Amino acid sequence: MIVTYAEIDGFKNLSEISFVPDPKYNIISGRNAQGKTNLIEAIWIMSGCKSFRGSKEKDYINLDGNRMTAGIKIRDSVREQKIEFEMTKGVNSTKLIHLNGVKQKGTKSLFDVFKCIVFIPDDVDIIRGSPEKRRNFIDMAASQLNPVSVVHLNRHNVIMNHRNALLKEIMQGNAGEDVLEVLDRQAAYEGAFISYMRNDYIKKINEICSRLYCTISGGTEKLELEYRSNIYKPSDFEKPLGNEAVETYFSKLRETSGYDIRTGSTHSGVNRDEVLIKINGISAREYGSQGQIKSAALVMKLAQAEIFMKRSDDAPVIFLDDVMGELDEKRQRFIFDIIRDMQVFITTCNESALLPEIKGKIIHIDGGKITEETENVSSYRE
Ligand SMILES: Nc1ncnc2c1ncn2[C@@H]1O[C@H](COP(=O)(O)OP(=O)(O)O)[C@@H](O)[C@H]1O
Ligand SMILES: [Mg+2]
Repeated sequence: MIVTYAEIDGFKNLSEISFVPDPKYNIISGRNAQGKTNLIEAIWIMSGCKSFRGSKEKDYINLDGNRMTAGIKIRDSVREQKIEFEMTKGVNSTKLIHLNGVKQKGTKSLFDVFKCIVFIPDDVDIIRGSPEKRRNFIDMAASQLNPVSVVHLNRHNVIMNHRNALLKEIMQGNAGEDVLEVLDRQAAYEGAFISYMRNDYIKKINEICSRLYCTISGGTEKLELEYRSNIYKPSDFEKPLGNEAVETYFSKLRETSGYDIRTGSTHSGVNRDEVLIKINGISAREYGSQGQIKSAALVMKLAQAEIFMKRSDDAPVIFLDDVMGELDEKRQRFIFDIIRDMQVFITTCNESALLPEIKGKIIHIDGGKITEETENVSSYRE
């Protein structure tokens, strides 16, 4: 899919932005702190995802303003669609989302409409950060393939919040343990689904990662991803997801419930899962070099794009925020080889650090506005 039109006004420092992106490469160029990342962030939030740099929604609106609007048109193999996003702040603050002119209840429905993947320097945290970072990566990536997963993840989240609050109530003697058992039934149903979803996705991504990492390391190193379910053994996943799997999950929850009540938190379940990432058989998180960690994170994101491509006719839109400048020519070529059929938005302070074949539209950003749009068509393109 491609973004065919974008307009943004009042989002952070951006004002009166409107442009027709190139169907292939878009280079967002400008000095530091001019609004390059804001521009791709404003387009990104149309996918229904939270900000990729952790901005809160209330910070979307310009500090001196009280309204932001953003809209994009996207074209996939079937049709062109329009997404509009509007927020106002103040006593009567509002958030309005329209899809093809029809008001939406929330951002959830957009998830299925506009699919994109963003690469940021912080992606190394998928390898280096807490287990939660790896779980989030897998959950988001798997949800893009199957939006039903979002429903299960959200429900599980709600149940867990409820459960952890209930644990404290029980400890204080304000609630009975029978309610906990009812909640655990629900948690087991959602948790079993999530465990199987994670197992499935990690199996898929592991295959691709191992091939890509072999290439990026010049055939000398091996990357492996391994799902460590907190509930199931690897062999449990050979059986299909069904009553037995839910029952296993349920009994594990019951086993630790006494300890959970004493400590006020849940000690078994998908919230304790880990994804082991190994390079040449040892933990990349603990022993990986900077370069290995950077390559591994890159490969995981590229594998996500590749799985996506295989699954649907529509490639995701790719955002590369400040990552190209940091990569040597070999790694840049490696990325472009994989995303060559996708629409790409690249932010950079230094166009000359990009590969010469990355030519398309250059959008110059200064003080939150587009100051110049130049077309830079190379003979490389058909
Ligand atoms: N809510 C906001 N209102 C106004 N300006 C903002 C807001 N949030 C961030 N900014 C401004 O946006 C600019 C940073 O934009 P960013 O897109 O990160 O820059 P870069 O071009 O380096 O990627 C800074 O000047 C910052 O002050
Ligand atoms: Mg930036």
